[in-house]
Amino acid sequence: MSWHEAFSDRYGAWAADMTADIPFHVGLARETDRPIVQLAVGTGRVAIPVALATGRPVIGLGASPGMLRQARAHAAEAGVALTLIEGDMRVLAMGERAALVYCPFRALLHLRTWADRRRVCERVAASLRPGGRFAATKNE
Ligand SMILES: C[S@@+](CC[C@H](N)C(=O)[O-])C[C@H]1O[C@@H](n2cnc3c(N)ncnc32)[C@H](O)[C@@H]1O
Repeated sequence: MSWHEAFSDRYGAWAADMTADIPFHVGLARETDRPIVQLAVGTGRVAIPVALATGRPVIGLGASPGMLRQARAHAAEAGVALTLIEGDMRVLAMGERAALVYCPFRALLHLRTWADRRRVCERVAASLRPGGRFAATKNE
């Protein structure tokens, strides 16, 4: 079991006060058209406020089934449209090219090697429409 799956039940409480990065992602989403994609969606900590604030659906990709279950429940409670997909960002593939892909809280560092991180960047580049944006952010 991955550490994020093992941590999935506690992540929501642990990250409850971590909100400082949300306005930045909301701002990015407001500046773009859709589709909007979040890599490493976790429990929806960022994706749900982004969808609420912009009224735009967000596609969230995550590798932890436990966190995805929570994201589904939180999105339903908030009444927002999240499309949640269990998968590996290293093999990201979009049917329709995205206008914005973002990856909060330095989640690229969950990948062990620079080759893996580079693969994600290549997949993101292939998944963005011309002029589309990619943001990989910290939480400070
Ligand atoms: C600590 S949580 C952070 C969630 C979210 N980024 C946030 O800021 O609240 C880590 C997330 O990274 C995801 N993750 C780790 N490795 C991944 C991979 N290779 N592909 C997709 N998601 C991955 C986990 O499934 C989990 O959703």
